[in-house]
Formats: sequence, structure tokens, C-alpha cells
Amino acid sequence: MINIAIDGPSGSGKSTLAKEIAKRLGYVYVDTGALYRSIGLYISEHHINPNKKEDVIAVLPDIRLDLTYEEGKQTVYVNGANVGDRIRTPEIAEITSIIASIPEVRSFLLSLQKEMAIKHNVVMDGRDIGTVILPDAQVKIYLSASAENRAERRYNELRAKGIEITREEVKADLIKRDHADETRETAPAVAAEDAVPLDNSALNLEQTFEAAMEIVRNKLNEILPNRI
Ligand code: DC
Repeated sequence: MINIAIDGPSGSGKSTLAKEIAKRLGYVYVDTGALYRSIGLYISEHHINPNKKEDVIAVLPDIRLDLTYEEGKQTVYVNGANVGDRIRTPEIAEITSIIASIPEVRSFLLSLQKEMAIKHNVVMDGRDIGTVILPDAQVKIYLSASAENRAERRYNELRAKGIEITREEVKADLIKRDHADETRETAPAVAAEDAVPLDNSALNLEQTFEAAMEIVRNKLNEILPNRI
């Protein structure tokens, strides 16, 4: 199977890019952030304090995650219920960043992610895909952009969903979460040594896609000449 790993900080446009690449190549797009967020949602809805590690670990066996794909769109179900947009709020983002640092939460999600990449050609985005989940991925991209750019994009996304928030709040949340993700002990959000860096601060969606496809083509042509 061909595995394409896209890592990078919040708001760098990983999911938009990963979705587009998956569509172009006919691969499955796996949004791993949605899996962590789904656990965050469960923790929130069951009124569990995310900072109480033992309490979070204790409920993991009660959580069943299922993934479905329709027309390239990933849907996550927690114990049979579609999480929908409930996982996209700033509150869930904050809880998720806390619980994502717990090693047991990460290992709980490990096999599900690895299994997807064994069964399908995937474009998988997250924070530790190139380093921990798919260290042998044929293509690894580390997508980043300036904090200002990322905050502006996230702000527009949240406002489009009708969420009341200021630009300053978005930027502060983003910096705080990135710091937590990058400095945690287990699977910190860092670029894999063999990832190709792509900074899209000055690129629009189309240009980001073209630059990424160039990286994908070059890498795949090295190992599978004339494939794409
Ligand atoms: O990409 P996102 O904003 O949906 O991620 C939500 C949170 O989950 C973020 O704090 C980072 C964390 N995460 C992670 O630790 N590892 C991943 N593979 C994906 C997300």
C-alpha cells in the first residue's frame, strides 16, 4: 500500500491538503485529529476532568470508535453515534490537546490508524504520522505556516461554523495548543527527519496543492517510476 503522511501544527491546512491529494489519487483520507477529538468529546460529555489522567484512562475501554468513508468523507462514530461537528468546537480542541498527551490514549488509537494504512492507500494527517504511526510512509510532508496565517484561517473556519470567537482568542488558543503538542513527552508533534518541509504562509490553496503534488510525484517516481 502507498502511505502519505502529512504532519504539521494546527491551522496549517493539513486536512484541506490531505483531502485534495486523496481525491486526486483515489486514496483514503484519514483525519487522525478527528479520532483524538472524538475521545475529547466523550470525555467532555461524560463530565470527566481531562487533567485527571487516571479517570481518562479508566473510561477508554468504554469507548468504541468506528470509521466510515463515503465519497472520501470520513465519519467517526463513538459508540454508534456520529460525532459530526460537535468535535470542532474550541472547547473540545482544548480538552483534546490535554488528553492527546496521555500515552494510553495514544496507544488506544494506534492500531486503528495502522490498520487503515495496511488495508488502504492512505493520505493520513496528524502530528506523529511520519514519526510514530507510519514511520515507513513512502511520502512524508511537514506542512507549516506562520502563526498569524494559521490563526486567521482557523478564525475564518470557526466563524463560518457560527462559533463566536475573536481573532486574538483563536491565536492564543492555537499557540497554547501547539506548545502543548510539541513539548509533550509521548509522540511530540515534530517533523520526521525524512519529511519534506512545506511552508504555505505565502501560498494559496491551489499553490499549496501543486507544491505538495510535486513532492508526492517526485517521491513516488523514485520508488515506483511512471506510477503517477
Ligand atoms: O488536527 P486537529 O486540530 O484536529 O488535532 C486536534 C488535537 O489532537 C491537537 O491538539 C493535536 C492532537 N493530535 C495528536 O496529538 N496527534 C494526532 N495524530 C492528531 C491530533
